[in-house]
Amino acid sequence: MKKIIILFFISLLFIQCKQENKRIQKKEFGFIADSAMVVSAREEASKIGVAIMAKGGNAFDASIATSLALVVAYPFAGNIGGGGFLVYRLNDGAIGALDYREKAPLAATRDMYLDKEGNVIEGKSTLGAMAVGVPGTVDGLFKIHQKFGTLPFEQLIQPAIDLAEKGAVVTERQAKRIAHYRKLFKKANNRTIALDTVWKKGDTIKYHALAATLTRIRDHGRDEFYKGETAEQLVNYIQDLGGIITNEDLAKYEAKWRKPIVFTYDGNKIISMSPPSSGGICIAQILKTIEPYHIEQYGHNSTKYIQLITEAERRAYADRSHFLGDPDFVNIPIDSLISSQYVTRRMENFDWKMATKSSEVSYGNIAGMESDETTHFSIIDKFGNAVSVTTTLNGAYGSKVYVEKGGFFLNNEMDDLSAKPGVPNMFGLLGAEANAIVPEKRMLSSMTPTIVEKNGKLKMVLGSPGGSTIITSVMQNILNVLEFDMTMQESVTKPRFHHQWLPDDIKFEPAFDTLVFNPLRKLGYTIDIGNTPIIGKVDAILVLPNGKLEGGADPRGDDKAAGY
Ligand code: GLY
Repeated sequence: MKKIIILFFISLLFIQCKQENKRIQKKEFGFIADSAMVVSAREEASKIGVAIMAKGGNAFDASIATSLALVVAYPFAGNIGGGGFLVYRLNDGAIGALDYREKAPLAATRDMYLDKEGNVIEGKSTLGAMAVGVPGTVDGLFKIHQKFGTLPFEQLIQPAIDLAEKGAVVTERQAKRIAHYRKLFKKANNRTIALDTVWKKGDTIKYHALAATLTRIRDHGRDEFYKGETAEQLVNYIQDLGGIITNEDLAKYEAKWRKPIVFTYDGNKIISMSPPSSGGICIAQILKTIEPYHIEQYGHNSTKYIQLITEAERRAYADRSHFLGDPDFVNIPIDSLISSQYVTRRMENFDWKMATKSSEVSYGNIAGMESDETTHFSIIDKFGNAVSVTTTLNGAYGSKVYVEKGGFFLNNEMDDLSAKPGVPNMFGLLGAEANAIVPEKRMLSSMTPTIVEKNGKLKMVLGSPGGSTIITSVMQNILNVLEFDMTMQESVTKPRFHHQWLPDDIKFEPAFDTLVFNPLRKLGYTIDIGNTPIIGKVDAILVLPNGKLEGGADPRGDDKAAGY
C-alpha cells in the first residue's frame, strides 16, 4: 500500500512537471541575448547601441549612440531639439536619474497662449515657433558621457553621422506619418521643408544638413549646440518665425542630476523618474493603491482588475494635476503622496458596486495622447548596468518647426505647461498653479523611464511613449510580468487600457476583449473604444532566471530588440 501511495505521488509530480514544461514551452519569448541588449523604436538604432557595447562601451555609451541614431532613423521623436529623462541602475545597485527636460524661454509669460478675452488660442502652444521649449537633449547626452562614458564621445556620435549621410530606410509607418503631417510642416515653417517629399516604404532618406550638425557637435562639443553655429541657426530660424527663444536661453540651459522616485511593490524595488516628470510619483501612487489587493486572482484584464486600476488611476491623476510641477519652482510633498497611508485614505470612497465619478474626486488632502511623440529605449550591458531612457519632441515631429540649415525638428513642449488652469493640454491633462508658465520652468512630464529590482538583483528595464498614457502603459507592463508571469514580449504585446481622472472614461485599444465592457458599463464606467488606436509603445528588457536577457519590442511600432 505504502509503495502504491509513493508511486501515486511520484506520477502526480511527473504530470505537474510535464504541465509546467508545456506551459513554459507555450510562452512566447521575445528576442533573447546572453549579456547585452538594446530595445528601441528602430532596428538601426538598437544595432548601433549594441555595436558600441560590443566594442567595450557600457550601457551609458550605448544610450548616447542609440539616442543620436534615433534622431536620424526616427525623426518623429528621436531628437536633438527636444529633451528627455534617463534613469539608471549600476551593477553595484547604485541608482540615479538625469533630467534634460526642456525649459520655458526667458521671455515666456503666464498668459502667452491666451487671447484678449483670456481664452486659449488654439494651436499656439502646439504648432510653430511659439510652442518650442529650450532643448535639453544635447546637454543631457554630454552630461551622461561626462559622468559615466567610457568610450570617446566622437566614437558614440559617428554612427549617427554615418547613418545620416548614408540614409535611413523609410518604413511603411514612417511614410504614412510624413504624408499625414505634410500640411502642418508647411504651416509651422511657412515653407515646404526638405523632408516633405512623397516617400514610399523602402525609400532611403539622406540627412546631409543633420550630418553636418552632428559633425560640428562631434568636433566642438556641447557648446556647438548652445553657443555655436547651430545655436545661431536655431535662434535665427525661431525668431524669423516669430518665436521667443534667444541665445541667452540656449547659453543658460543645464541638464540636472536628480534623485529618482523609489518605492516597493510586492517585494520588488521600483526605480522611476522624479519631477519634473509625474511618471514616478503617479506609478508609485497607483501601484501602492492596488498593492493590498490580490489582483493576480482577479484575472488579467478582467472587470475587477480594470475597475480597481481605474479607480487608483483616477485619484493619482487628480493629484498629478494639482500637486506636480518643476521641483525647482514648486514644493511637492513626494513622500506623503506615495505613502501607503495616504493612498489608502484616498480609496476610502471606493465602492466595488459602482464607479466613483471623477467630478466627485479632487486632489487629496496633504499636510503640506501623443501620444505621440516621445520615444523610449531600454539598455542592459554585459557588466550588468541598466539604463532606461525616454526622450521626446512632445507631439509628432514636435512643433513641426524644422531648422532647415541644421536638419532637425524642434519640440512643442511648451504645451506641457498649463496654458490656462482648467483647460486641458493636447493629452487632455489639466494643469494648475504648480505647472503654470514661468520663465525657465521645466514643464511637467509623464515620461516614466523605469527599472525594477528584485532581491537586490536587476529584473526589468522599461518605458514608453504616449503622453499621459505612458504612466499607465508602464504600470500595466510591470503588473503583467510581476503578477501574471508573462514573458517580456507577451507583456508588451497585450492590449492596454487607460484612465486619467478627466475625461471620466476608460480608453481601450481596439484589440481589447470586448467582454468586459458591459459589466463595466453596468458599474457606471464610460467606455471609449476605437479613439485610441494604440496606448503606449513599450520597449523593455527582462532579466530571465538563467541570467539571459529577453527583449520586449512593441509590435505597435517598428520597434526592435538587438543584442549579443
Ligand atoms: N511630452 C510628453 C511628456 O513629457 O509627458
